Amino acid sequence: MIVLGVDTSCDDTSIAVYDASSNKVLSNIVSSQYEFHREFGGVVPEIAARKHAENIDLVFLEALKVAQVSPSDLRLVCATNRPGLLPALLVGLTFAKGISYNLKVPFKAVHHIEAHLFSPFIGSEPSYPFLGLVVSGGHTLIVLVERLGRYKVLGKTLDDAVGEAYDKVAKITGLGYPGGPVIDKIYRSYDGDYLKLPKPKVSGLNFSFSGIKSAVRRLAEKGAPTYQLVSSFQRVAVSYLIDKLKEAVKETKVKRVAVSGGVSANSLLREELASLGVELYIPPLEFTSDNGAMVAYLGYRKFLLEGEDSLEVGALARSQIT
Ligand SMILES: Nc1ncnc2c1ncn2[C@@H]1O[C@H](COP(=O)(O)OP(=O)(O)OP(=O)(O)O)[C@@H](O)[C@H]1O
Ligand SMILES: [Mg+2]
Repeated sequence: MIVLGVDTSCDDTSIAVYDASSNKVLSNIVSSQYEFHREFGGVVPEIAARKHAENIDLVFLEALKVAQVSPSDLRLVCATNRPGLLPALLVGLTFAKGISYNLKVPFKAVHHIEAHLFSPFIGSEPSYPFLGLVVSGGHTLIVLVERLGRYKVLGKTLDDAVGEAYDKVAKITGLGYPGGPVIDKIYRSYDGDYLKLPKPKVSGLNFSFSGIKSAVRRLAEKGAPTYQLVSSFQRVAVSYLIDKLKEAVKETKVKRVAVSGGVSANSLLREELASLGVELYIPPLEFTSDNGAMVAYLGYRKFLLEGEDSLEVGALARSQIT
């Protein structure tokens, strides 16, 4: 069964073709818009929507071409409809609905964070229960996944997401947007001392990143060297994520952990996770940030569980996972 997955929730136009019968991603095309948002230090919703609208036909045709399928092979169309930037979401959602309507194939709306949550299992089947740590540009949460569709959010950020903190630290230090990849690269090349940054004290499994970010701002204003400052930030941010994850494993006694979202590309986080002593699932780099493959993968499984969605389903800027 050939499934189309569409994601335009933020600043990546992504469409994938997924063969559910063989559990293989046949193509996953991502057109990133970073260069158009860079000068603003973050994503501008109107620009994102316009670029999605300009690119989506080409991304679709490329996804079909690479997968070597034609539109008539598609049996299910899935698209992210929540949460995300509303004008951006609407482009992919409307496009996907149009394809579903024209081809007379079922449509399934997908929750973007739920799709990230399951992305470490693309190409295989999830084993339950597992603890999901989602670390992206807009979200940071730990979820106990009992089975598909049954989730308990154990903790989430009370202010900034960790990816957002990376992006803000890069903005403060003049490293541009997005911050994660450049800070990670600097960390790899830096071998000096580290500055002491505070680890936020938030009870339970919730997170807070605004204190670390403010400390970085103060030190930057005092003239702290950029490489030392951002490397110290990465060290404390990753150590904080690992502390919380260890706490969640201890509390739930669930030792199966799936980490996802853009920040799961981070090299230090990957190193630290590998030495945690848990059964670890982490997506290959191409499925860490926004991608259509995770939308098709999850959409297909939700379709089997719940059936199709009406073409009248709308887009939502905000939406909890449960
Ligand atoms: N190597 C890395 N280290 C740390 N952070 C990274 C790395 N690579 C990317 N990121 C961060 O990942 C984030 C983008 O991830 P992703 O595309 O999953 O988020 P998003 O789609 O913008 O947000 P959400 O999924 O919450 O709506 C950015 O904040 C970026 O800085
Ligand atoms: Mg995302």
